[in-house]
Amino acid sequence: MYLGLDLGTSGLRVLLVDASGTPVVSEAESYEAKHPKAGWSEQDPAEWTKALDLAMARIKASHGAQLAQVKGIGVSGHMHGATLLDAGGTVLRPCILWNDTRSFEEAALLDDTPGVRDLSGNIVFPGFTAPKLLWVQKHEPEIFAKVAKVLLPAAYMNFHLTGETFADMSDSAGTAWLDAGRRAWSDDLLQGGAMTEAQMPRLVEGCEVGGTLKKALAEAWGIKGEVIVVGGAGDNAAAACGVGAMKDGQGFVSLGTSGVLLTGRDGYAPLPASAVHTFCHAVPGQWYQMGVILAATDSLNWLSRVTGSKPAELSKELGSSIQGPERLRFLPYLSGERTPHNDSHIRGAFLNLSVEHDRKAMTQAVMEGVSFALRDCAEAIGQTGATLGGLLAIGGGAASRFWLETIATVLNLPLDLPEAGDFGAALGAARLAMVGAGGGSVEEIMTRPSVAGTVEPKTALVAAYEDAYQAYKASYPALKSLG
Ligand code: XUL
Repeated sequence: MYLGLDLGTSGLRVLLVDASGTPVVSEAESYEAKHPKAGWSEQDPAEWTKALDLAMARIKASHGAQLAQVKGIGVSGHMHGATLLDAGGTVLRPCILWNDTRSFEEAALLDDTPGVRDLSGNIVFPGFTAPKLLWVQKHEPEIFAKVAKVLLPAAYMNFHLTGETFADMSDSAGTAWLDAGRRAWSDDLLQGGAMTEAQMPRLVEGCEVGGTLKKALAEAWGIKGEVIVVGGAGDNAAAACGVGAMKDGQGFVSLGTSGVLLTGRDGYAPLPASAVHTFCHAVPGQWYQMGVILAATDSLNWLSRVTGSKPAELSKELGSSIQGPERLRFLPYLSGERTPHNDSHIRGAFLNLSVEHDRKAMTQAVMEGVSFALRDCAEAIGQTGATLGGLLAIGGGAASRFWLETIATVLNLPLDLPEAGDFGAALGAARLAMVGAGGGSVEEIMTRPSVAGTVEPKTALVAAYEDAYQAYKASYPALKSLG
């Protein structure tokens, strides 16, 4: 038995799988991000461990006998967050999350520093970890002076589980302190970010053992034998492990709060100028590339709040099959945008709004806008030399057939739907633990799920959506010029 923990932005999921990697039971606990000021997004790590205690207590109550047999744990975490510890291992301030944009000035400063993009393989986005520490240095110097370790959320959970500080390559690549090609901390990047290697966790591969579960936790959960904890992964790499997107030509499109178009890569082919993210994968010798848009289901959730109708109701009004693009156009930059614009100041818009437009038209425009933004990601990924294919559709938004058909037609690529339960990152994390505990090789364990069906592009409408995409693409510079 193995445990996969998915430390997400809105909650923690714990998944217990058996020796074949088949899910046995899953429990989830929600928590929230706090936004004490505009652009800030924080979480108290105590919320994560409280959620873990509650979820584990329920698993112990319902599946105690299976839980007792756990041999390994893997943790997936939302990426880029800065959890600051003092020399005694005490958390110094709430974790500053991936969607916190307060450090945009520090990010621009680092990003403009010669050599930084070459070493890290990426633009230094405001959500990344390095600029956050420069912000703390400037605005909270008394805290900065006490920082003994900086841990990503998954690495903090590893620390909670084992008492040791270690982090995997895939998550560490999102700090802007890692030389993503060499898979090692970069002295130059650390120095530029006012950090030292001593403040970093030990690096391990995601499927490599980093430590063992503390006795007290094992006892509380009724586990007798030794339990290894592997490096784990950033959530996107973990989700990729969960659906077998490891190599060139294996990928997924994820419709979560943020939207992700990801492909595995056999080599390291960074192209920072495209705003494509190039990160180490969670297994040795592999990388992945992805385009990230900041508001995917978040855009639909916004419309849901404004209209007072649940996202599922909005989606239902559209039916399940597309008929052609809406003239009403939505630009989904509600929180700025990463790929391809790297623009934290841009904001969203509806264009061509007419008196006949109703809620249904707005929902369609929102889904199309997000689909066009994902097409922007596909174009950017294409510039790196990657070929997109073998795409699985995952995440909450994938429940809408209309949305998936829109994306398939806009990308002109088929999308496969995984069959049973979308455990995504939690399953990927459990799979990393299986590899680490010697339960099989990466090739044997990181397999593609059975496919329940395929959403094909609607061939007759590809040209119409292509025209609509070109019009969408022309809207960004126009919107930007308005300031
Ligand atoms: C990736 C990113 C998000 C977070 C949130 O670069 O910022 O996908 O990992 O889940």
